[in-house]
Amino acid sequence: PAGERAALRGRIEADPARFLELLARAESDRAADPILLRRVDKGPGGALAETYAPPDLFALDGTGLPVSRTGHRLRRAAFAALREMDAAARAEGLSLLVSSSYRSYAYQEEVFARNVSQDGIERARMLSAEPGRSQHQLGTAIDFGSIDDSFAETAEGRWLSRNARRFGFSASYPRGMEGLTGYLWESWHYRYVGKAAAALEEEFFGGLQARMIAFMEVYR
Ligand code: DAL
Ligand code: ZN
Repeated sequence: PAGERAALRGRIEADPARFLELLARAESDRAADPILLRRVDKGPGGALAETYAPPDLFALDGTGLPVSRTGHRLRRAAFAALREMDAAARAEGLSLLVSSSYRSYAYQEEVFARNVSQDGIERARMLSAEPGRSQHQLGTAIDFGSIDDSFAETAEGRWLSRNARRFGFSASYPRGMEGLTGYLWESWHYRYVGKAAAALEEEFFGGLQARMIAFMEVYR
């Protein structure tokens, strides 16, 4: 949209060196890990293959991180960032409970089907990704805490919304952005994109992950 392009241009013109620095760092992170900034959404090209599974899943059990159950897994880089973030939150007396993490294509089929049977297909599509279109299949997305709107008002929810980006995590489904993301607000869902991309998103893309990722996909 033209208004957004103008806003982006204005922000870049205000500090082009910062923009180029963050872009170069995000690009270098992506060169090291091409799927880090992969667009996964409802749009054309936004689906992962049924056979896609992350290469370096790491179990959270035994790590000391707060988990809702056994068996949670994340990619190594996301795990390392979460551990750093957890330490910072703990120092403030907070506990970042991991309630959902890596989900295989097959598991997402179950999750989506359960949502359809509970809420009907139309509402299910606003709440849950169809198999292949969930960021959880990347192994870099985490749902924290209660996985409902009450999370936003908890100390942990407020802390994450202010601080997650410092550790490379970005809120995928912000409030009021259903038209952009295709999903209702999810205060609990964060995706690891790396520190440079998280800063780029915050400083130049209005905190909108979908816009930053779309830009990273097409600018070259
Ligand atoms: N709830 C998010 C959209 C997912 O299912 O991945
Ligand atoms: Zn989620």
